[in-house]
Amino acid sequence: MILLGLNIDHCATVRQARYREAAATTGGAVEPDPVTLAVLGERAGADGITVHLREDRRHIQERDVWRLRECIATRLNLEMACNPAMTAFALKLKPATVCLVPENRDEISTEGGLDVVGNQKRVQACINAMTKAGIQTSLFIDPDEAQIELAAKLGAPIVELHTGAYANAYHSAKRAKEFQRLRLGCVRAHELGLVVNAGHGINYVNVTEVRTLPHVHEMNIGHSVISRALFTGIEEAVRELKARMAGQ
Ligand code: PXP
Repeated sequence: MILLGLNIDHCATVRQARYREAAATTGGAVEPDPVTLAVLGERAGADGITVHLREDRRHIQERDVWRLRECIATRLNLEMACNPAMTAFALKLKPATVCLVPENRDEISTEGGLDVVGNQKRVQACINAMTKAGIQTSLFIDPDEAQIELAAKLGAPIVELHTGAYANAYHSAKRAKEFQRLRLGCVRAHELGLVVNAGHGINYVNVTEVRTLPHVHEMNIGHSVISRALFTGIEEAVRELKARMAGQ
């Protein structure tokens, strides 16, 4: 069974749209509260909670992350930029996993995968620090052989293959090619002993194909499930997604 990492960033996006100041200080006193959403999501079957603490704090705030660590019953996966400030924060927080992602202030959401090849030293330093502290590191990378091989060489236990290019190509002629890239990426990562996760742009439609990728351990899904929850509530949205992930 493929696990669901529920990404709750966009619950915080809605909160920040109204309560930019209050959310950083009073957290749960303003709505919608991402921590409450996380707990309800877990109750409906989410296997882990994922948040991206961005440098510009545009959605998730530090206070949210600390509250999550206290309140959730599953695993906390902290997505973060690969830099000394975030590394220091993660070492204090001690989430179950950190997922290193590229960060660019102008992007609306994470766009390409992390360039491990071009940032080898920084990535290695972060992996080493996390390993020493008992935190598993996941690298969010494109399904590219060189990136996958270096991830394994640097000792990252997990890779999250970026499904965004595939999701964007879903309704076009490029879909089969992007799916094949992901398929080969999953096979290579598994051969190298890496745990293989997938994420970005997975929704209630394309999940039926993404679930057929080999060796996928967990999918990290945010936008589609938070969007669906506006109509059904988070519990129903999670139950429906998990059913589709299981091919039902
Ligand atoms: N995985 C990673 C590493 C991400 O940065 C994100 C958010 O951009 C996701 C998964 C979830 O993507 P989405 O919100 O499109 O489901």
